[in-house]
Amino acid sequence: MRRFLVGQLLFLPSLVLAQEGSPAGPVPPALLQARRAALMERMGEGVAILRAASERSNDPPDSEYPQDSDFRQDNDFFYLTGLEAPDGLLVLLAHENGPDEVRLFLPPRNAGRERWLGPRLGPDARAAEQAGLPASAVRSVADFDQVMDSLVTLPDGRPPRLFIKRSRSVAPNLPAGRWGSASGPVDLNPHLGALRLVKDSNEIARLRRAVEISLEGHLAAMRVARPGAWEYELEAAAEYEFRRLGAERVGYPSIVGAGVNGTILHYDESRARLEEGQLVVMDMGAEFGYYSADITRTIPVSGRFTERQRAIYNLVLAVQQAAIEAVRPGVTMAQLNEIARRTMRERSGDLCGRQSCDAYFIHGLGHWIGMDVHDVGGYSRPLAPGVVLTIEPGIYLPEEKLGVRIEDDLLVTADGHELLSARVPRTTSEIERYMSQARSGER
Ligand code: GLY
Ligand code: MN
Ligand code: MN
Repeated sequence: MRRFLVGQLLFLPSLVLAQEGSPAGPVPPALLQARRAALMERMGEGVAILRAASERSNDPPDSEYPQDSDFRQDNDFFYLTGLEAPDGLLVLLAHENGPDEVRLFLPPRNAGRERWLGPRLGPDARAAEQAGLPASAVRSVADFDQVMDSLVTLPDGRPPRLFIKRSRSVAPNLPAGRWGSASGPVDLNPHLGALRLVKDSNEIARLRRAVEISLEGHLAAMRVARPGAWEYELEAAAEYEFRRLGAERVGYPSIVGAGVNGTILHYDESRARLEEGQLVVMDMGAEFGYYSADITRTIPVSGRFTERQRAIYNLVLAVQQAAIEAVRPGVTMAQLNEIARRTMRERSGDLCGRQSCDAYFIHGLGHWIGMDVHDVGGYSRPLAPGVVLTIEPGIYLPEEKLGVRIEDDLLVTADGHELLSARVPRTTSEIERYMSQARSGER
């Protein structure tokens, strides 16, 4: 049957290609050009090679028609090209004297594969246009060695400085001895991290939408939470909203933990039943157009917090609020962490026995978000406008089967911050009101 189908294919259909049709739309070519220019500016002089992701498949490696092909592009490759094409190579030639150059190598189109997997971008004008490149810059991967040989031969015979992504599965298989500096390649990751840390307008738009969608998911989960519901029902309610609103996948496996499961930081089995009197920690975020939100809410199964739960919750909330209020350009993550931990120590009273509750706040205060939910970029740099981060304190008391985490997403602005996830109930009274309205049919 396969052979028969392949044999009938004499033309290549030009249907809508994956990312063009996604709800996030294409990345504006001018922004892709600016991202590449910024990277080459950092490189100074040299050649960078980045490899696209491959389609994944459990079929044999030489299978032409992989079934398990929920393709997701490598983040850096997408950041710099906006393309979802698998198995490409991006080459950036940075010149200190003279204009920089870019080459993109893509696999040729294949009618037989496309009959099974759908239309793909090939090395042609369409890919060039989407990536913001001249048509002459896009070539077939089959031409890679030949083009590179002609591009990187320096007049004095010295090999160029080579930049690749170290310690990533997408590092290219470099043709040995043909080119590359004697001192070994330079790691591109710190340069990419520094760039991706500060989001441009299109990245911020995608993150905003990822957060909006995730908020709807959280609200949906709050509406189905009740004694006797299963953790997976809450997860399904949220993830249904994610997909319904255009998210392509979850940003990370959803965490829905009731009772003691809420004290396991990355519990993602979602197999237990919710019981009266428990809290449920829900840490769920959608990925929209390659960008992921990361939001946590902790809610009472019964719809009302017990006094003990309320006290622990309000301590976590006060710590989160103190850190949020300090978010502005120039502040470091270390300073935010110090503010949070000091607030926790000062306000713990005897809530956690003789120890400060700080001892039960067993993870970091927050992290950058973006294309990776724990996004790239060093943590020593002070916050700057365009950085997007989470603030997520928590207290975990397994002996009491009680865990509380509150996690929100913030955009650093010129004079402070914007709380992107403000719309989902966060205080105990907001949560109780929302759940009560949901149960009485008002939501
Ligand atoms: N969702 C994982 C985290 O909060 O870091
Ligand atoms: Mn997080
Ligand atoms: Mn989270």
